Amino acid sequence: MTKNTLSITDNRTGQTYEIPIEHDTINAMDLRQIKVNPGDFGMMSYDPAFKNTASTKSTITYIDGGKGILRYRGYPIEQLAEKSNYLEVAYLILFGELPTKAQYDQWEYDILHHTFVHENIKQLMHVFRHDAHPMGMFIATVAAMSTFYPEGRDIMNEAERLKQIQRLIAKVPTVAAFSYRHSRGLPYVYPDNDLSYTGNFLNMLDKMTEVKYKPNPVLERALDVLFILHADHEQNCGTAAMRVIGSSHTDPYTAMAGAAAALYGPLHGGANEAVLRMLLEIGDVKHVPEFIKGVKNRERLLMGFGHRVYKNYDPRAKIIKQIADQVFAETGRNPLLDIALELERIALEDDFFVQRNLYPNVDFYSGIIYQAMRFPIAMFPVLFAIPRTVGWLAQWVEMLKDPDQKIARPRQIYLGPDVRDYVPMEARG
Ligand code: ACO
Repeated sequence: MTKNTLSITDNRTGQTYEIPIEHDTINAMDLRQIKVNPGDFGMMSYDPAFKNTASTKSTITYIDGGKGILRYRGYPIEQLAEKSNYLEVAYLILFGELPTKAQYDQWEYDILHHTFVHENIKQLMHVFRHDAHPMGMFIATVAAMSTFYPEGRDIMNEAERLKQIQRLIAKVPTVAAFSYRHSRGLPYVYPDNDLSYTGNFLNMLDKMTEVKYKPNPVLERALDVLFILHADHEQNCGTAAMRVIGSSHTDPYTAMAGAAAALYGPLHGGANEAVLRMLLEIGDVKHVPEFIKGVKNRERLLMGFGHRVYKNYDPRAKIIKQIADQVFAETGRNPLLDIALELERIALEDDFFVQRNLYPNVDFYSGIIYQAMRFPIAMFPVLFAIPRTVGWLAQWVEMLKDPDQKIARPRQIYLGPDVRDYVPMEARG
């Protein structure tokens, strides 16, 4: 008869331990009983970068990296991208079920009526340098928002928690749009609550002298689908940061500023910006083979390729490739697309990439669309952070409600010097 346990024999002592298996996983704390002497600390597992360590149980997002599957709360990303909209998906991610009509209407109302920011937030953003990176402005402003809503520290109060969640989802497009207008030296545009979530964002970015801004419906929908694709991605670097910071019971604004900071890096959400800069540097399809040679010689990375979890085509990249055609029909074709397609074609045939299961990830094509929509390159990580807000917050709530969770505090293997006595400066060699 099979048993759901793992037997471990410690060859230092000859002792065998039987460790329970749950969900194909062992509990790392069960290793602690493995000791050579009763006074030992006990066995630990070593896993830098959490490559094989589950830090939580979760019911939000499912990924099968080998098969290229992504689902939110069980719903395939392809169906959500085709049939839903960002605010509905945000509700699904946060509350676990698709909303009824009445629930959706209330949710949409609540979000669209929290879009304004305090005037002092506007002043605060105004003091950044004219060429400040919008992601730096975004991170700093989200952190500063904690000082405007001190009740956000009451994190165990469900009603207060929901209020901060609504505020954050509602206000991040406003903060993002202000950071963009600041970098262009343009006056900030206040939200228009008659427009959709994405339509209002476009309004705050683009509105000039017109009395009523009318978003282009194709671009509005394309951006909304991009927001759906970026809404959550289980325990990625930014989300892990959100959970770790939140585990010390800090307020959601401060925790989210940390999550956004993690997202900013070029190995994570900053990759969309890095991809565009890479494509511009390559400049022409004829330079692609030379560039690929450099990647294979380890001189640089092919940005927008590879993923910790996906060892197959990122399903989000597939959907983005389809949206590109709709966007280009409105904006004109982005010539960088030809370079990207050639990079992908060569990489998918080349042994270096095949052997390492390197496929395009979400960031490979998103930047090309954003650029065609006339977003400056520096705005790309911000465009990732807006929709990821709901994922961070849903994961934060799940962490707070999980009785298994405690303050995050990894262990280390200390390999430094043993105890030694202080040497006065004059006696040092
Ligand atoms: N270009 C060239 N080689 C690569 C790339 C790449 N983009 N990605 C991975 N590799 C190589 C590594 O050098 C390594 O080779 P080796 O085994 O011979 O040493 C092998 O593929 C495995 O890669 P790791 O770095 O071990 O994979 P890891 O899971 O740690 O990293 C990551 C994943 C960070 C995404 C990596 O693929 C990368 O740097 N990609 C480029 C940046 C990028 O596009 N990031 C966005 C990811 S999506 C997101 O975060 C939203």
